[in-house]
Amino acid sequence: MDNDRILTSDIHQEDGDIETSLRPKVLRDYVGQSTIKDSLSIYIRAALERRDALDHILLYGPPGLGKTTLACIVAAEMGQNVRITSGPAIDRPGDLASILTNLNAGDVLFIDEIHRLSRAVEEVLYPAMEDGALDIMIGKGPTARSLRLDLPKFTLIGATTRAGQLSAPLRDRFGMMFRLQMYTPEELARILHRSAGIIGTPFDEEGIAEIAKRSRGTPRIANRMLKRVRDYAQVRADGCITRTVAHEGLDMLDVDELGLDQVDRNVLLTMMDKFAGGPVGLDTLAASTGEDAITIEDVYEPYLLQLGFIKRTPRGRMATQLAYLHLKRTPPAHMNQEIMLEQMRMIDENT
Ligand SMILES: Nc1ncnc2c1ncn2[C@@H]1O[C@H](COP(=O)(O)OP(=O)(O)OP(=O)(O)O)[C@@H](O)[C@H]1O
Ligand SMILES: [Mg+2]
Repeated sequence: MDNDRILTSDIHQEDGDIETSLRPKVLRDYVGQSTIKDSLSIYIRAALERRDALDHILLYGPPGLGKTTLACIVAAEMGQNVRITSGPAIDRPGDLASILTNLNAGDVLFIDEIHRLSRAVEEVLYPAMEDGALDIMIGKGPTARSLRLDLPKFTLIGATTRAGQLSAPLRDRFGMMFRLQMYTPEELARILHRSAGIIGTPFDEEGIAEIAKRSRGTPRIANRMLKRVRDYAQVRADGCITRTVAHEGLDMLDVDELGLDQVDRNVLLTMMDKFAGGPVGLDTLAASTGEDAITIEDVYEPYLLQLGFIKRTPRGRMATQLAYLHLKRTPPAHMNQEIMLEQMRMIDENT
């Protein structure tokens, strides 16, 4: 088996990409997510004092919020190596068995997109997580017997964008579960400060704030925009990222003041123009926008929900008054009525 295809023991081998160099390496440099950081630092310290491996951890949340980064930091803080692989890369139970038996005591095994593990592979994982053992079947038919192999103590860190798709038995075997939150503009500005320093591009506070405001609460997007704005600054200005430069550079990427791109606008406008604001089901919305339903749900919707531009109802998604205002459309009459009723209720409550 070609081990390199499935896992890389060292994140520096993963890609020559700049994303790796922008990844913070210690918990102290990991911006935001303070509840998660507080809990983790206690558990890490306790495990270190007991000279024990850390319990298994599940990280979930939208893409680009720092799950992989956090997993590598946990391993580093434990003083252990991390092995990186992903759900779709582990085809057969034998692949996972070989990864597990090659672990050293204390290692962190990171499985990205863990919701995509097949049932058969998951079944190898259960005893490994619970009893630190591997059950191997020897032979076939009536003479088959199973052999139990002890594994070195390891910590599994699973990451997923869809915790809901994880099977219950797998979910139950994690000792800790953390949901990553979207970042505030201030937190994103701190991340961008650090990144701008690493790539060595001059900036002022307002320039950074402008990028932060438009990066949809997501560090990966913030870093990506930073690089594009740097290019723009270099070619069209004197190289420094100022507010104007950031503004112009991001306009060129077709990202508006709130960070919405063409797809976001297309999704919202489709809801408004074709479905009178909704409710409209996810699959119908996907078909009418030409986007993939999973992409809408995992990538676009979290930010639109966060902005309060859409809401989920039992009958489907609805565009809100705020979304109409932002896209400069007139909300349907029933929406104005709802707002008036809401305002009257508030007046009632206050008197
Ligand atoms: N808390 C943070 N502080 C500083 N930088 C961060 C933080 N979180 C993420 N980043 C930056 O964002 C980039 C993306 O993070 P990462 O690859 O860990 O996201 P992810 O959640 O694993 O995404 P995916 O679900 O797509 O795998 C990293 O290169 C890192 O530089
Ligand atoms: Mg990742």
